[in-house]
Amino acid sequence: MSSTSEMPMVMAGGRLAMLTAHLVPSTEPNDHAPVLEPQSLSAAISPPGNLKGTLTIVDERTGKRYQVEVSEEGTVKATDLKKISTGKNDKGLKLYDPGYLNTAPVRSTICYIDGDEGILRYRGYPIEELAEKSTFMETAYLIMYGNLPSESQLADWEFAISQHSAVPQGVLDIIQSMPHDAHPMGVLVSAISALSVFHPDANPALRGLDVYNSKQVRDKQIARIIGKITTIAAAAYLRMAGRPPVLPSNHLSYTENFLYMLDSFANRSYKPNPRLTRVLDIIFILHAEHEMNCSTSTVRHLASSGVDVYTAIAGGVGALYGPLHGGANEAVLKMLSEIGSVENIPEFIEGVKARKRKLSGFGHRVYKNYDPRAKVIRRLAEEVFSIVGRDPLIEVAVALEKVALSDEFFIKRRLYPNVDFYSGLIYRAMGFPPEYFTVLFAIPRMAGYLAHWRESLDDPDTKIMRPQQVYTGEWLRHYTPIHQRPVSSNADKLGQVAVSNASRRRLAGSGV
Ligand code: ACO
Repeated sequence: MSSTSEMPMVMAGGRLAMLTAHLVPSTEPNDHAPVLEPQSLSAAISPPGNLKGTLTIVDERTGKRYQVEVSEEGTVKATDLKKISTGKNDKGLKLYDPGYLNTAPVRSTICYIDGDEGILRYRGYPIEELAEKSTFMETAYLIMYGNLPSESQLADWEFAISQHSAVPQGVLDIIQSMPHDAHPMGVLVSAISALSVFHPDANPALRGLDVYNSKQVRDKQIARIIGKITTIAAAAYLRMAGRPPVLPSNHLSYTENFLYMLDSFANRSYKPNPRLTRVLDIIFILHAEHEMNCSTSTVRHLASSGVDVYTAIAGGVGALYGPLHGGANEAVLKMLSEIGSVENIPEFIEGVKARKRKLSGFGHRVYKNYDPRAKVIRRLAEEVFSIVGRDPLIEVAVALEKVALSDEFFIKRRLYPNVDFYSGLIYRAMGFPPEYFTVLFAIPRMAGYLAHWRESLDDPDTKIMRPQQVYTGEWLRHYTPIHQRPVSSNADKLGQVAVSNASRRRLAGSGV
């Protein structure tokens, strides 16, 4: 298998290719041709209709019968099950649901997913249609406010966002003070969290919990976060490259401005390649929202405590960083590089089946079918390769997908490619290093996080999120003095905390 140490060279080549593509003014006739041709939409299934009714439960332990209301949407209130109890010391039936496999803590109108059919819709619009026809700015407005904007609404939205794209110098200083090899997702989390202290006007701890009752205050935070996230992300990128941050330009579109900050070297007349800009804009549309995934539910969880929106979003971005969530696109690229070539796929697949490792970019908690976003991204890959050259790892990815989709192990578990399987290849071809991939996911996801934050503020059912646990520990013990405690070799205890050689050297000396 090829070594990952070969990657920097390949990536540097990719980045150069992109810069060249930008520098040469394109005269190709299909410059303004649509990047995506119309695609057949995912299955049109009817809504479930009114599911209201009553559920009768017979408790075989006591012989008692209970009636529980079922809502129109087909849900039962978990608290209704509390009345099912065997007696005095039994506090009532609880739902044990690790990983929230079948628990809905919110009702939402933002996003609909049918994982069996491979359907994803924002506010009712199929993702394929938005990817083909919309822009990220328009889609972000739709996600936030519920409807596609009129011309003037879109202009106001874009203006507000561009007016809030400058980042406080203190935040840029924080980014600069990070180690040069800091992971950009760590930088992003810290910078968003730092915005909290730079905007005390929006902090409920200082201004009172009612501060977000004002639509003006809410909208300002939305424009600030969506506006600043590209500037912060660009500063993190430039920090990695050892270059100073570039000020945003408000004469460019949202995605153009982002690429401008990355690539212009502050040359105000620089313009990113329009076709690459459109590809990235479509990728932003695809990643903008995905209902109660791990990071969005983290945002809702934090916001339920009344904390300021920056802290809530920083927490969400922290969750997104994980390799089982948004960090998977980085893991996919590392995996494809390790596999190296098509001949090594069978051996790799055997390793996955033997549970030595996971097939990154495959499987999803909700999709038990092809992720509709992955279908669009796969088509975008060809467009990117036509501009910057074909990435040899695409052959490995396509062959790996083919082998996995025809293997009993994956078929039985309904494991299909998810959005991260092909996105990393596009990012790599566009010259982004793997550590940066999840940042490209985080930028558009601000729209989803903020829409959920906004929705939670207006929801009369919102309560501080505080799940239950099933206590399985010691029932009751009494304190024993230290010298009377039995020492069991099986009991859990502090293990060996590794001491570095530098500490050993220091410990070998003595204080003056
Ligand atoms: N490779 C190999 N086996 C897998 C994979 C995979 N990628 N995904 C799931 N499985 C197997 C599990 O081992 C399990 O097998 P078992 O029943 O024999 O024990 C079965 O499929 C079910 O998997 P779970 O882990 O129970 O599914 P869950 O819904 O909890 O996890 C997850 C979903 C985390 C996405 C998982 O599929 C995974 O780890 N995938 C790889 C990471 C990844 O690509 N994440 C990105 C998701 S998309 C996003 O967040 C944007």
